[in-house]
Amino acid sequence: MERFYITTAIDYVNGAPHIGHAYEKILTDVIYRHYTQRCDKTFFLTGTDEHGIKIQKTSKEQGMSEQDFCDMNAQKFKDTWKTLNVDYTKFIRTTDKEHEKVVQKIFQKLLDKGDIYKHSYTGLYCSGCEAFLSEKDLTEEGLCPDHKKKPEVVSEENYFFRLTKYKDAIIKHIKTNPDFIVPSFRANEVLNQLENIEDISVSRAKSNVSWNIPVLGDDEQGIYVWIDALSNYITALGYDPDGSSETFNTFWPADVHVIGKDILKFHSIYWIAILMALDLPLPKHILAHGWITIDQTKMSKSLGNVISPIGVLEAFNLDIPDPLRYYMASSAPCGKDGNYSDDDFKEKVNAHLANSMGNLLNRTLSMLVKYFAGDVNQEFLGKNELEQAAIDTIKAVKHHFDYFEVSEAAQKIIELVDITNKYVTDNAPWALAKDGQEEKCGIVLTNVLEVMCVITSLIYPFCPNIAKLMAEQLSFDLSIKLDDLTCKNLKAGHLIDKENIKPVFLRMDSELADKSK
Ligand code: MSP
Repeated sequence: MERFYITTAIDYVNGAPHIGHAYEKILTDVIYRHYTQRCDKTFFLTGTDEHGIKIQKTSKEQGMSEQDFCDMNAQKFKDTWKTLNVDYTKFIRTTDKEHEKVVQKIFQKLLDKGDIYKHSYTGLYCSGCEAFLSEKDLTEEGLCPDHKKKPEVVSEENYFFRLTKYKDAIIKHIKTNPDFIVPSFRANEVLNQLENIEDISVSRAKSNVSWNIPVLGDDEQGIYVWIDALSNYITALGYDPDGSSETFNTFWPADVHVIGKDILKFHSIYWIAILMALDLPLPKHILAHGWITIDQTKMSKSLGNVISPIGVLEAFNLDIPDPLRYYMASSAPCGKDGNYSDDDFKEKVNAHLANSMGNLLNRTLSMLVKYFAGDVNQEFLGKNELEQAAIDTIKAVKHHFDYFEVSEAAQKIIELVDITNKYVTDNAPWALAKDGQEEKCGIVLTNVLEVMCVITSLIYPFCPNIAKLMAEQLSFDLSIKLDDLTCKNLKAGHLIDKENIKPVFLRMDSELADKSK
């Protein structure tokens, strides 16, 4: 694979980022970093969705201009992603002038083509979804199922997009590409939704919503959020109906759009129709992840259980985000809902990262220093009983990432850690040393360290800081591509001195955990 383009949903900026937003960005970053280990050219896009009635209302309530309010909150998202080491290539804001200009051109192109037309309309508008809902979408009480609010009745003359024109083509695409929607069990939901689709409103009267991108040549209408928001995936790369950039030509179509299950309809139906109307190639996959609950309860402001990812790092006194990244990325099987709980977080990362992985490296290096002055002797290198397990794990991890099965990949890595720990226990190198079986002891330790190099490379997307510390102590080159990764990574010679052996991750002790409560 030569190039890889991955995107996240762009977050509404009407508040600060919470752990649900963080889950998606971490998941995407882990996939992205894995693919940097497989491809030469990669692009990771994230950003913020800044137009619409919600932002207009919230900024007013806070006595701020919309732009100042967006600037303030967009910065919170950027700061959080930096702290979590979310290594995006570009952060797009839908208020970026370049984005706004191209969205206007896209709108005009669809209008010229006859795929957008003007029409008087009375509909039920949910400001939470920033979308018109049909009666069928509502609960028995007439509420939006996601936001539990009664939608407003809105009568307007709007521009409409001819979604129905693309219905058959979208159905055909989904049916002939069973891996287009990931996980595949969600494809049926989308096919059901497609049964009843109608043309969709793509503008709002300026008199009702003023905080949006104006329709060119029509002072009365502003472009409604979804056409604006979805286009970010191409405007960010430099798409332009009048001639696109080199970057766009290199990276489009996207390999995967990572989004939450709640916005799958917008991505797998609306966005696909817009791309078809623009005569652009379609993204290869749409990964709809599940939702994160807190202690098994839906996160909501009214319940007061909204968790800030930075708050978690502070509460546990963590100076690197790796444990939270590892925990979140492995919190749910592909596409399923996950859960955050303080106790589970502490227990899992202590068990996997400190006790199993970190400790294994630490005690193996310590034994190498104790028995061999930190040297790897030539005669210790060669046949490794753990090699097959390590090679199988590399293959399995790549295979899982081919299907964006991130937590499943993490599980494979920890299984290799467990196999290696068992190998140490079974072979008891300390006893071999005591018995004078020096060479055998050296071989066991070297075998383990060879596998630790493989583990370092595989854990890197989840735990970049811990992996860096491991790589330093193993003199292992972390930039190696996964296709070139073998289980023969050590060179004969001096590896490490006692004072350079550092624990890569310390257990989060209960006193620190208590601080969070
Ligand atoms: N602005 C739109 C997306 C436009 S994409 C062209 C939006 N924004 S959002 O802020 O409401 O949500 C952003 C992303 O965060 C979505 O993918 C959404 O599913 C995800 N999550 C929001 N809350 C979440 C959880 N509690 N758990 C996991 N993901 C969640 O929708």
